[in-house]
Amino acid sequence: MHQEIKPSILYYGTPVILLTTLNEDGSTNISPLSSSWALGYSLVLGLGIGGKAIENLRERPECVVNVPGPELWTQVEALAPLTGKNPVPEYKLQASFRFEHDKFAAANFTRQTSVQVKPDRILECPLQIECAVRNIRVPEHDPHFAVVEAEALKVHADEKIVLGDNRIDPEQWSPLIYNFRHYFGLGQPLGKTFRA
Ligand SMILES: Cc1cc2nc3c(=O)[nH]c(=O)nc-3n(C[C@H](O)[C@H](O)[C@H](O)COP(=O)(O)O)c2cc1C
Repeated sequence: MHQEIKPSILYYGTPVILLTTLNEDGSTNISPLSSSWALGYSLVLGLGIGGKAIENLRERPECVVNVPGPELWTQVEALAPLTGKNPVPEYKLQASFRFEHDKFAAANFTRQTSVQVKPDRILECPLQIECAVRNIRVPEHDPHFAVVEAEALKVHADEKIVLGDNRIDPEQWSPLIYNFRHYFGLGQPLGKTFRA
């Protein structure tokens, strides 16, 4: 039997990404997100319109999608109550968010210069995708979120997870999963698709 419900959140278990964007003073902001997907070299991100990330992307349309592994979850969580917005918007104040300009220091992450875009990468993330923003759309049915379409320009992978020249080894790589506001790693491998 299924039950019809109206959950307050619909985070049904997607990888966490740490989106780096460029602040007006040339420094890099970090925003944890779980709403993203990639198909070919097209990426789509779901961003709350009250945050610093979307403000930065509208002004300076480039970013890095840094993908952490499960061992980084406490550092990701150290970023969770922070925003790069100053002053902090009222709705974020009510949810106990506070302003932080230097999120690298706040979460003990290391800056790494990017190759094709201005925002820095996060050294500790085994996968880093430098992107150019190609389109930003606010859906009519929900004006609180923006749908950001980006093009992957350059992919950096830790050599430990690279198989051959241009493949990621799924035995070595695993994402950090955000499952209804709880962090999970992957379980045991189940099998592979006919195209693997
Ligand atoms: C694991 C995790 C996943 C999140 N996923 C999203 C998301 O997909 N989209 C979003 O807008 N905010 C998401 N958030 C909330 C933002 O990280 C939060 O609004 C943060 O203040 C954004 O920082 P900024 O204002 O400096 O951009 C998530 C937070 C965490 C901890």
